Amino acid sequence: MEFSTQTTASLHQIKTAALAVGVFTDGVLSPAADVIDRAGAGALRAVTKTEFKGKSNTHAVLRDIPGVSAARIVLVGLGKQENYNATAHGSAELVFAQYCAAAGLTEGVSTLASIECPDTTLRTRARAAASAGTRAGYHYDATLGKSREPGPRLRKIAIWTARGQAAEAQQGLSEGQALGEGINLARMLGDLPPNVCTPSYLGKTAKQLAKQFTTLKAEVLERKQLEALNMGSFLSVARGSYEPPAFIVLKHTPAGRRPAAKDRKAPIVLVGKGITFDSGGISIKPAANMDEMKYDMCGAASVLGTLRAVAQLELNREVIGIIPACENLPSGRANKPGDVVTSMSGLTIEILNTDAEGRLVLCDALTYAERFKPAAVIDIATLTGACVVALGNVNSGLFSKDDDLADSLLRAGRAAADPAWRLPLDDAYQEQLRSNFADIANIGGPPAGAVTAACFLSRFTSSYPWAHLDIAGTAWRGGKEKGASGRPVPLLVHYLIEQAN
Ligand code: BES
Ligand code: MN
Ligand code: ZN
Repeated sequence: MEFSTQTTASLHQIKTAALAVGVFTDGVLSPAADVIDRAGAGALRAVTKTEFKGKSNTHAVLRDIPGVSAARIVLVGLGKQENYNATAHGSAELVFAQYCAAAGLTEGVSTLASIECPDTTLRTRARAAASAGTRAGYHYDATLGKSREPGPRLRKIAIWTARGQAAEAQQGLSEGQALGEGINLARMLGDLPPNVCTPSYLGKTAKQLAKQFTTLKAEVLERKQLEALNMGSFLSVARGSYEPPAFIVLKHTPAGRRPAAKDRKAPIVLVGKGITFDSGGISIKPAANMDEMKYDMCGAASVLGTLRAVAQLELNREVIGIIPACENLPSGRANKPGDVVTSMSGLTIEILNTDAEGRLVLCDALTYAERFKPAAVIDIATLTGACVVALGNVNSGLFSKDDDLADSLLRAGRAAADPAWRLPLDDAYQEQLRSNFADIANIGGPPAGAVTAACFLSRFTSSYPWAHLDIAGTAWRGGKEKGASGRPVPLLVHYLIEQAN
C-alpha cells in the first residue's frame, strides 16, 4: 500500500476512482462535501435531503457528477456532529477503505482527515486513515483452497489536506501504515488455526521479524532454560501438552548511538499471553465454540504486532516484548485441581481450576520482566470470560494501581479508537485468593472474576509500574464475521509513540 497527501486546492478537479467526503447526521455536509456539492450543482444535497442521512457506519456512492472530476463520490456517514470524535473518525475512514477494497478499486482519495474533531490532531487523523487503508487490505487465505476469491487490489490512498499541513499529515500516514501492518500481523496470527500457530510458530515469527527489522533482536527460550529459571508455574501448564513451550523475548533498541547512561530512558515491557489453544485442561471447557480458544494467544499476537509497528516506525524508545507461549491441554501429565506449583518468584500457587491458566503463565513472565528494570510493564491477555460479561466487545478491561500509567493508556485508547475502561484493583479483593495450602490460589470464585484475575497478577508486579489489559472481549469477533480484530495494537502503538516523544 502507498499513502500520500493531496494538496490540490480545487477538490472537484481531483481525478480519482473514488473521493470520500463526510456527511453528519441529518445530512449536514462537511466543508469538503460542500465544495463538491457546489461544483456538482447540488448533487450531494439532493441525496442528503432524501435517502442519505449521514448515520455512522453507512455510505452512499454517487457516480459521474457533472463538474466533478472524480469518478465516484463516496458519501461517508460521520454520525452526530456533536459526538464526532476519534472513534467516529476511525470508523469513517474504515468504511471508505473497505468500500474501495470491496469494489475492487485500486486507489482513492479521502478528505475525512481534514475534518477536525476532539482527541485528535491532523497527525492522528492521518494515522487513522492509513491504518484503515492497510487494514482493508487484510485477507486471510493461509488455509483456503485456491478457488476462493482473491484479496483486495487497493494499492493507493491519498488524503486531502491544506498545503502547509502536508508534512504533519505524511508523518501520520507512515505511522498509520506501520500501525496497520502491525494490526494485520496480529490478526493473521490470531486467525491461523491452532495446529499451525503453535508456540514454536510464534517463536519463528519473532525470529523472522528480527531478520526483517534491524532494530529487533529475538530470543526463544526452551524448556531446559525455563527449568533453570525456575518457571515452575508456566512449565506446569506447558507440561500437559505434546507441543514444546516457547518463551519469547523480542527487543527493539533504537538505532544510532546509544545515549549516555544518565539520558537513557528505561524500557517499556509488553507481556502477552500466548496460549495457542486453551481447552481448559483437566477442568475442561464445554465443546460449544471451543474452537475460539485458538484466539487465546491474541495477547501474544498484539505484542508481536506492536513490536513490528515500533520497529517499522524506528521508534526512539526501547521496547521489549515477552511472550510465554504454550498450549493448555488435558493429559496424564497435565495440572490437576489441587496441585501446588512454585512460581519463579518463589510464591507457591494452589491450582484450583486448570482453566485459569493464563495467570499461571503470565506470573512467571512478569517476574522475568524485573531484570529489565522497566519504566512500565503492560501485560495483554485474553484472561477472563468475566471481563466479556462486564464490558462486552467495546472496551478492553484496564487494571492498574498507577494513575498516570492508567490515564496514558486510556488516552491512547481513545485517540486510537481502541478504547479501554478502567476497572478496580482494590486490595480488598485479594482476600478471595486465599489458600490453605499455598501462598495464593489461582481462582477467586465467581464474584468479580476479571478483578481477582488482575489481583493475582498484581502479586508478581511489585517492583515496577504495571498495567493489565484484559482483551477477552475485544481481541476477536465471533459469529458470521468471525476473526481477530488486531486490538489492542492501536492503543499500544499510540501509547508508545507518546512515550517516545
Ligand atoms: N482464555 C480464557 C478466558 C476467555 C474465556 C477468553 C472466554 C475469551 C472468552 C481463560 O483462560 C479462562 O478460561 N478463564 C476462566 C477463568 C476461571 C476458571 C476462573 C474463565 O474466564 O472462565
Ligand atoms: Mn482457560
Ligand atoms: Zn485461557
